[in-house]
Amino acid sequence: MDASLYAILQDIRGAARALVRSVPAADRRRMHHKDLSPLLWHLGHILYVEQQWVGERLAGLAHDDARALLFRPDGLRKSDRGEHMPDLDSLARDWSDWEGRFPELLATAESAHPDHPLLARGFILRFLIQHHGQHLETMCQALAARALGADTGAFHPSRPLASAPLALCYRPWTAGCGRIGDEGPDGYDNERPSHDLRLPGFAIAERPVSNAAYLRFIEDDGYRDERYWTHEGRRWRDHAGAQAPWHWRRDRHGFWYGVDHSGPFELASDAPVSGLCAYEARAFARYARARLPHEAEWELAMRDGLLKDVGRAWEWCENRFYPYPGFHAFPYRGYSVPWFDGAHTTLRGASVYSTPYTQRASFRNFHAADKRHIFAGVRLCHPSRLTH
Ligand code: AVJ
Ligand code: FE
Repeated sequence: MDASLYAILQDIRGAARALVRSVPAADRRRMHHKDLSPLLWHLGHILYVEQQWVGERLAGLAHDDARALLFRPDGLRKSDRGEHMPDLDSLARDWSDWEGRFPELLATAESAHPDHPLLARGFILRFLIQHHGQHLETMCQALAARALGADTGAFHPSRPLASAPLALCYRPWTAGCGRIGDEGPDGYDNERPSHDLRLPGFAIAERPVSNAAYLRFIEDDGYRDERYWTHEGRRWRDHAGAQAPWHWRRDRHGFWYGVDHSGPFELASDAPVSGLCAYEARAFARYARARLPHEAEWELAMRDGLLKDVGRAWEWCENRFYPYPGFHAFPYRGYSVPWFDGAHTTLRGASVYSTPYTQRASFRNFHAADKRHIFAGVRLCHPSRLTH
């Protein structure tokens, strides 16, 4: 067993427990957002995932139907999960039993089945680290939703956000070939096979759209100007009543501030805007007479060193999430296949709430276009259009 990978996994387990412990007991089993499971569910789910892969698949331990029902994504409905969750002390005991057995179980499997695909190149630990990191990020979103619900509007930013005109530096990518994807041990199935692409030339903004430039869009009546919104986008906007990014709030003087898992904070004018759904990102792009990048453009530009400020806010892409030619599900169908359904848009990069372990040029995130709680923003692209 790779000791440094295992140390990372232990850190993430501890961070997940600490996040759950940081809120009062009643808030651990509550849904803070309609799309997000209770915090206790995430903690039980990541334990279940370890037990499923390392316990059942690799070490041959028995399957536990009751746990599976509680903690599999296709078990209980999200809204039914809270009331069935064990409390934190009970889950913490399960965790400590499991952590006591884990190193031995994995080491035994490694010597018994050295050629097992789950064990090649440290795959299983790399997978658990990334998987758990993604759940930590979702837990941060749930905590942000909780803090938004509790926000009283009493925070006063010391340096109020002022709007600014869009000032972007565009970097050209000349028509030609490039390679996308990742065949390494960290890559998820949807990043494989890596393959060559020929793309027309495009120009991509060096930096994502800033808070200040997005505030200018709001002040320019961008949310109400029908020219910027598609039919679907308008429907979403009117239903959501959206007038600003998800986690933006105003004090009594009308100054904007942000709220995240740690509470209210100042919105820096040059920080990438986040809290946008894909409809808002596209409306902004239309307002700016630009478009969103296709994810292949994003990756090639990233590999060529053209992109700055990556990893501060997820970046909505122009295209739907799709399988690369020759895609093969691994280690299970459920990670990617259900989301190749035409209803999910790809995002690239990472947010400030992401762990470092999924941050790479080839990583593909995916969400429905109306999700705005994922701390996603927008990077603009010009001018030719690549369609998938
Ligand atoms: C890729 C972030 C959309 O959180 O639903 C976690 C990642 N998959 N467990 C999600 C995931 C299975 C997934 N996202
Ligand atoms: Fe999961």
